[in-house]
Amino acid sequence: MKKVLILYYSQSGQLKNVLDHFIAPLQEDSTLQCEYKEIKPGKPFPYPWKFYEFFDTFPESVYMDGCEVESLDLDEEYDLIILGYTVWFLSPSLPITGFLQSEQAKKLLHNKPVITVIACRDMWLIAQEKMKSLLREAGARHTDNVVLTDQGKSIYTFVTTPRWMLTGKKDAFWFFPKAGVARNEIQDAARFGKRLCTTLARDDETKHKPMLKGLNAVNVQGKLIATEQIAHRSFLIWSKLIKKAGAPGSAPRKVVITIYAFFLLILVLTIVPINIIIRKLLYPFRRKHIKKAVNYYEQPSGK
Ligand SMILES: Cc1cc2nc3c(=O)[nH]c(=O)nc-3n(C[C@H](O)[C@H](O)[C@H](O)COP(=O)(O)O)c2cc1C
Repeated sequence: MKKVLILYYSQSGQLKNVLDHFIAPLQEDSTLQCEYKEIKPGKPFPYPWKFYEFFDTFPESVYMDGCEVESLDLDEEYDLIILGYTVWFLSPSLPITGFLQSEQAKKLLHNKPVITVIACRDMWLIAQEKMKSLLREAGARHTDNVVLTDQGKSIYTFVTTPRWMLTGKKDAFWFFPKAGVARNEIQDAARFGKRLCTTLARDDETKHKPMLKGLNAVNVQGKLIATEQIAHRSFLIWSKLIKKAGAPGSAPRKVVITIYAFFLLILVLTIVPINIIIRKLLYPFRRKHIKKAVNYYEQPSGK
């Protein structure tokens, strides 16, 4: 009997819900045994978040400092590991980074096939690059990546996702759609589990190749690539400033966080729309370059 381990950290339960649908077909397969393990930070993070607590995780998330996590009660060997993670400030969430940097993760993941599953707003490209480096350092074999993003256009989720994180409210309001990933997309995640039942029966997990190709596992938005790259460069600078200002929770740090929040707001209201217009105008000349980048970020599972 093959053993599949599912690791995750989810605050509202959305990512856990995605994973439940993803692995439902595996759980019905009598040749497979699935084991869920929740990654728990030593000191729990709040949900819903307060404003300063939310931004206080920003520098450590960006610099991938991780956080302390509880040790997991695990068996020795698994045939496949499914790692569900959410994105915090263009980086894997702190508990996930903390876990992947632990000695337990390095032992567990060494030479094991790992499928990453992301449920986030819609900016995950840089986080996945960071995840790939964490998996490489742990000696894991990254075989596939599945990404589900929040419903509605980027411009709407820029409001609906933070509102959800800061208040716990997911409902649609005014002209904004409901926050989070659409219900039908979550239910459709079962297609990945169905495919895995077939591929695991053929021992494909040992063959160093993707198992979830042709299932629309990811949808890379070419328009967002440059935005993420620019945002991440600015994140690195601001994170350094906030870290220098003081320890998490300290008053000087709160002052820099407040300045940063104002900066971000002005940026979103001014530079971002200008950037969108410039990119639209430049698109015909950059089409080839963007296509190449999209193809890169779609790997390993593709569209
Ligand atoms: C501190 C914080 C930062 C976030 N940053 C991003 C981000 O950079 N990109 C993104 O697409 N989503 C971001 N999100 C949304 C999460 O990736 C995720 O969708 C949300 O936390 C719900 O997941 P969960 O309830 O299953 O944990 C962020 C959420 C939090 C709490």
